[in-house]
Amino acid sequence: MENLIDIESISKEEIIKIIDVAKDFKKNKKKSDVINKTLALMFYENSTRTRCSFEIAGQKLGMNIINFDANHSSLLKGESLKDTIENLYFLGVNAVVIRHSYSGIINNVMRLVKYPIKFINGGDGTHAHPSQALLDFYTMLEKIGTVENKKIVIIGDVSHSRVAKSNISLLSKFNADIHLCAPTYLQFENKSAYNVTYHNDIKEAVEGANVVMLLRVQNERHEDSGYPDSLEYKRLYETDTKLLKEYASNDVILMHPGPANRNIEVSSELLDNRVGKTILEQAQNGVYVRMSILNTLLERIGE
Ligand code: CP
Repeated sequence: MENLIDIESISKEEIIKIIDVAKDFKKNKKKSDVINKTLALMFYENSTRTRCSFEIAGQKLGMNIINFDANHSSLLKGESLKDTIENLYFLGVNAVVIRHSYSGIINNVMRLVKYPIKFINGGDGTHAHPSQALLDFYTMLEKIGTVENKKIVIIGDVSHSRVAKSNISLLSKFNADIHLCAPTYLQFENKSAYNVTYHNDIKEAVEGANVVMLLRVQNERHEDSGYPDSLEYKRLYETDTKLLKEYASNDVILMHPGPANRNIEVSSELLDNRVGKTILEQAQNGVYVRMSILNTLLERIGE
């Protein structure tokens, strides 16, 4: 694995290796191979979990971390992203995590940069969020052992979600039974491109579900979707304890990539109870999975 741009570009074996190494880091059974390597965090879009967990992961691995401040960088004087990254490479940066609102921008700049710096996609537009899908997969395996033939229901703002796309791609490689539930105006336009079952009705969708993964209603991406209002969405699609108790499997796992809109896509009471705690464990697993990603990408640099 040379870079981490999307799930489509990595194999099942590479995914399993990332998961296994993450397990070892979590159990404190593995030492860092990347001490003193340098990581730059380049976030052009807001983030709490991804940015902080990559920073903590890098610190736990003994790496040097640069929190690149896009708003005070020479990008504002007109320097290109390619020139910025090539300069960072010559300053000693080995890898960059980039989050950006433009879909595909990380792949584009990676093809332009002439030097062997490693690229990690921290979420680009509506395209991909591969480290999120990997930590989600890790959490599912930890909780239910396997995803094969398990009913995994992704509910919410599917059409704007890079998390949904990366999860579908990953879960398809491992033969999960994937269901998507959203109002028609938030479904994918090219439905036939994905090997999933579509639902409008949330009760039908969660029936017997092993995993219910909620997505944030992404208000900032709604200018053109005809999105009516949050209350209408809440009336039909809010997940709460009663819904899960009546329709999902007894040991259903609740997931959400965060940040969550309380009392819109998920009830506050469910978020704060025992079932909702998995969402915090999911975020915590992000540290170990990101340690594994950094170690895997950088372990051979300088050999
Ligand atoms: N899940 C996720 O990407 O969260 P942040 O936007 O807080 O990084």
